[in-house]
Amino acid sequence: MASLRTIVSDIAAEMADAPDRGVVADYIAPLAGIDPGKFGIAVIEADGTQHLAGDAEESFSIQSVSKVFGLTLALGEAGDALWRRVGREPSGTAFNSIVQLETEHGIPRNPFLNAGAIVVCDILLGRLQPSEAIAEIVRFVRAQAGDEAIFVDERVATAEEQTGFRNKALANYMRAFGNLHHPVELALGVYFHQCALAMNCRQLASAGRYLMAGGRHPATGLSVVSARRARRINALMMTCGHYDGSGEFAYRVGLPGKSGVGGGILAIAPGRASIAVWSPGLNARGNSQLGALALERLVQRTGWSVFDPPR
Ligand code: DON
Repeated sequence: MASLRTIVSDIAAEMADAPDRGVVADYIAPLAGIDPGKFGIAVIEADGTQHLAGDAEESFSIQSVSKVFGLTLALGEAGDALWRRVGREPSGTAFNSIVQLETEHGIPRNPFLNAGAIVVCDILLGRLQPSEAIAEIVRFVRAQAGDEAIFVDERVATAEEQTGFRNKALANYMRAFGNLHHPVELALGVYFHQCALAMNCRQLASAGRYLMAGGRHPATGLSVVSARRARRINALMMTCGHYDGSGEFAYRVGLPGKSGVGGGILAIAPGRASIAVWSPGLNARGNSQLGALALERLVQRTGWSVFDPPR
């Protein structure tokens, strides 16, 4: 196998020339103008070695990738009681779909759908005011990444607040079923700010290290979540992290992964590496086109798919 450094820089070079880059999301106005030519990758190995290439230091809107961090915190709050209000099954539907909520009594299929993530934010409001919940999420991500520069892009949060009609519909619908316990504006306020976290690939891969390392912060050795919880979050990322594209992602990449409409993907190779890729053009399912391709090539060349026998 070529060195990991070579593999990562080769992939970035290949992605720079890739012709089919997908379509940049434009339903959140500040995302619409992002250059589809961008591509970044950060691979952080278990021993802390970092491999960065392309636009790995450029901030982007992490959007739904943030749902992993919100879920981690809400599980800390509610423990397994969270699963009375959110399911753990793939939905086979788009990230913003409402169809299953009626027949399933306002219980979202999983915490990575918009509806599920809004319930997760509502759970965080059990003990915290909205501004405190947002601050807690930011604090968590900064602590995991070891980087105080991570911030919430208020322009993105405001744009989502102004045009998030589907999310408002989802929240109101769940409130009608009694599955939101706080006013919809408050749960949505936390959700929109969480999604508006701006991070670069290096920061995002750093923030995900606890999921690669059995729940421990690899730099400090301190337990962030139990090993069992880290394993379970990874399982949810594998089965639900790409919405109706989750099966395809598992087939092609074979790693727990969480995508966002900003074009970022956090992928976890347990025991090996935490990986972030970013390319803003999306495929038909709303997941980063080149991000998935880059991860597919990375696992082909490293043998890191969880379905590969250890090399
Ligand atoms: O709520 C929304 O629509 C966005 N804040 C997040 C959607 C998202 O990232 C879906 N992922 N691919």
